Amino acid sequence: MTAEQTYETPDCLILPDRRAAEAALAERIAAQVCAKPHSVLGLATGNSMIGVYHALVGMHRNDGLSFAKATSFNLDEYCGLLAGHPSSFASFMREHFFAHVDMPRDSVHLPREDACAEYEAAIAEKGIDLQILGIGRNGHIGFNEPGATLTSRTRVVDLAPETLAANQRDFPAGETMPSHAVTMGIATILSARKILLLATGEAKAKALADALEGPIKPRNPASFLRLHPKVGIVCDSEAAGLLSSTRTHADA
Ligand code: GLP
Repeated sequence: MTAEQTYETPDCLILPDRRAAEAALAERIAAQVCAKPHSVLGLATGNSMIGVYHALVGMHRNDGLSFAKATSFNLDEYCGLLAGHPSSFASFMREHFFAHVDMPRDSVHLPREDACAEYEAAIAEKGIDLQILGIGRNGHIGFNEPGATLTSRTRVVDLAPETLAANQRDFPAGETMPSHAVTMGIATILSARKILLLATGEAKAKALADALEGPIKPRNPASFLRLHPKVGIVCDSEAAGLLSSTRTHADA
């Protein structure tokens, strides 16, 4: 990372490419766990996160980064998938992260459609130190689709048509993906002590610009993050492509 390639404002770090953004997020997660081994992490899925987990697994293998004392709560999960379904977020997390690091199985928490209140209670009891987020093309965070309210908590939601269109590619050919999911709510997410959102690729540019510079409204659920005092955005130059010139040329 060099001064010419990046700039940082209190809330936004723009890196030249996707790989650099993934590495920067992984470094921040690692720093959190090093500073506080008992950290409670809120974890996200999505293709954007694969490189982040890959980097963390590398740090675990090569640099001794340990998750042995950490706890995790995942953001969301599809409804109605059989245990072990390859497209479930449980499978995603196992494949990309949990199977390769030393976080004890008992410390891993995944939301279940039949246990939303219990999930909220467990999060409230521990408190999330660092919540990681991706962003949907429509501004969703977790599966809080447009229309989600500021006071929403873990619950079952309908997936938006644009999310169904975007995520169908993660399911085997010929299989229709679930139309519902269970997700932490906006209020759950905002209860975390710190939040870091990763956005990479041109397809996220509009959602990110609306979230950071548009009105704070349910129509872009990620816009609610601006109500939190400790939010950081990590993105690549493509995802930052529609941010205002003041922001994008701050390093010029
Ligand atoms: C997913 C998840 C979100 C994620 C978003 C973007 O389905 N529910 O938590 O941030 O959609 O995913 P991707 O990184 O694949 O674009």
